[in-house]
Amino acid sequence: MKIIIDKYAGFCFGVKRAVDKAFGEADNKKDRKIFTFGPLIHNDQVTGKLEELGIKSVDSLDEIDCEGAELIIRSHGIGEEKYRQIEEKGFGYIDCTCPYVSAIHKKVQEYHKKGYKIFIAGDKAHPEVIGINGWCDNSAHVIEDEKTVDKLPIYDKICLVAQTTITKKIWDSVVDAINKKYKNAIIFNTICSATEKRQESAEQLSKKVDCMIVIGSRKSSNTNKLYQICKENCDNAYHIEKAEDLPAGMLKRFETVGITAGASTPDWLIKEVIVKMQDNGNIMGDPVEIAENQENIVDDREEMEKQEDTAEDQGNMMEEYEKTMRSVYPGDTVKGTVIMVTDDEVMVNIGYKSDGIIKKEDYTWETDVNLKDIIKTGDELEVMVVSINDGEGNVVLSKKLLDAEKNFNKIEAAFNEKTPVEGYVKEIVKGGGIVEIMGVKAFMPASQFDVRYSEDLSGFVNKKVDVEVIEFDPDKRKVVVSRKSLLKKQNEIKEKALWENIEVGQKLTAEVKRLADFGAFADLGGVDGLIHISELSWSRVKHPSEIVKPGDKVEVIVLSVDKEKKKISLGLKQTLPEPWSVVGEKYKPGDTVDVKVLRFSNFGAFVELEPGIDGLVHISQISDKRIAKPSDALKIGETVKAKIIDIKPEEKKISLSIKELIEVNGEGAKEEAEKPVVEEAKEEAEKPAAEEVKEETAEPIAEQAKEEAEKAITEEAEKPIAEAAEETIEETIEETTKE
Ligand code: F3S
Repeated sequence: MKIIIDKYAGFCFGVKRAVDKAFGEADNKKDRKIFTFGPLIHNDQVTGKLEELGIKSVDSLDEIDCEGAELIIRSHGIGEEKYRQIEEKGFGYIDCTCPYVSAIHKKVQEYHKKGYKIFIAGDKAHPEVIGINGWCDNSAHVIEDEKTVDKLPIYDKICLVAQTTITKKIWDSVVDAINKKYKNAIIFNTICSATEKRQESAEQLSKKVDCMIVIGSRKSSNTNKLYQICKENCDNAYHIEKAEDLPAGMLKRFETVGITAGASTPDWLIKEVIVKMQDNGNIMGDPVEIAENQENIVDDREEMEKQEDTAEDQGNMMEEYEKTMRSVYPGDTVKGTVIMVTDDEVMVNIGYKSDGIIKKEDYTWETDVNLKDIIKTGDELEVMVVSINDGEGNVVLSKKLLDAEKNFNKIEAAFNEKTPVEGYVKEIVKGGGIVEIMGVKAFMPASQFDVRYSEDLSGFVNKKVDVEVIEFDPDKRKVVVSRKSLLKKQNEIKEKALWENIEVGQKLTAEVKRLADFGAFADLGGVDGLIHISELSWSRVKHPSEIVKPGDKVEVIVLSVDKEKKKISLGLKQTLPEPWSVVGEKYKPGDTVDVKVLRFSNFGAFVELEPGIDGLVHISQISDKRIAKPSDALKIGETVKAKIIDIKPEEKKISLSIKELIEVNGEGAKEEAEKPVVEEAKEEAEKPAAEEVKEETAEPIAEQAKEEAEKAITEEAEKPIAEAAEETIEETIEETTKE
């Protein structure tokens, strides 16, 4: 029977280091009280031997009731807080954390401080994962498989690391799911290559032997995984913890037997198994020496041990590990040469097996530039690796992310010096929006978008905005910006200048901001003025919305300024000629005009010739027939033809007649002719208009009083009249006509 010991069987570098250290301390123990913080490794034989040497395992510091105790921290490592607790208790410690695990602690601590959400791919109950989580205030999400990723919330920035001993298969599926869900994930493959190599090597060996023996504790997850791999490739795979567990007699039928062992399996245990396999219990002596002297045993581990020793001797294990982590993984900064530029992306040779792609949006934060104008083939670039595979085998790169790192300092300077910076609103999120400033993502609360709060911020998306940095936390990578504070400052400057320069009679441009029943407020540039409803138009206005709407840019005349009360009255109608001032040029007696019936009084109908120009059709001039009141012949709002019979522009009076046009056209006469004419009616028709009114109203109206009434009404009609004012006119009419 040929026995092949897998070259990666047994203790990994980190476990070997911890076990050697623990047994070394045991040799020098004397009166020292030494404990291991948790079982040193998942192997009862090893922990049993240590206990015999006076080094017990404790799971909690409270189990130690003596002073000056020393704790051996096992290769899995512990969280930051635990170190503090050890020191607070006055205990010492011998730190055997595997350097690979320490490197993960550093990464997690660094990215947690930078504001990244930490994800750990692994088993949440594993002491190594618990320890890693302790370097980000226990705030990490632990991902056991790719399905867990679906349930995770969206974060702007995440950093993924792996438990050192998870399988590559689980890791790859988790990375895939993470890359699909999170755009800018920083991913560090922290699977320890010792585990990976042991698994790959066991897989290869199990494919070529007749039987595979996996030695290690059933409590050890990495040994269990090793057994699973071997079982998939070899029907005769056995998992044993010690030599006595070997399937007695069964091994004889196999020509080749492979042996692998978990990371917690000591050498002497492997050799005990080998002896047991060979001698059926009859060989005497040291099992280690016996195993080492067997010619039919191929021990591939020597080469590996040499490499590890060399690395440790040179004190560069961390460096070696860093190299394996950083060569092709997301988050790396790499240099490359541009090999192609299109409108949408830049292709870069980064000396990796695949080329890298930088999309336009990952190259620059400027949206209105042409890539070909700013970069060309042959240019050298420094970029950040975002993902190793974009789905088509290309490495996803970003220049913007790297620039953002560099520009972070510029943003800090802008914060300290309170200088404005330019940004782009990328998206609207809950409570505000994400603004990109020189590649750095900042948050702008909804209340800081504008001087006046707006519910709908969608109009800002993809727009350039000038902002001020109002909060800056480099540790948490937190940048909060405000457009409002900058606008307020700018407005204050404009406002000051406006108050210094504004004068009555100035013609200014203003933007209508909001409407009220009594007028419109218009922004003159940091200061609002009021255009009273009576100053909006020369004609009657019932509501400002008939003339202007918010957002309108209008020319206005400054009517009054009260610098103490900070009040400005503006006039819109004053920018147009006063209609009565040109009436004499536009109209003359005898003209036929289209008029709109506005309202009635007892003695006639008020009509509009054009906005701001009203006239009166006396009741006697409305119809060629006898009517009791204007509404017998006319309707409010209708447009009719009328003849101008008198114009007095200086008194703002125009008298019109509808009747005269009817008589000229003969329509009235014709109609009258078709009717039986009674004498009384004929007489009535021939009566002067004043007489008619007199009789109809049954009140004595002197010609003078009538004129006064007309004058009062016409004057009132030219004022912008609110409902109340209209009532006043009606009262004026009544009073005047009574006289
Ligand atoms: Fe360290 Fe890797 Fe072993 S992380 S403890 S060398 S499995």
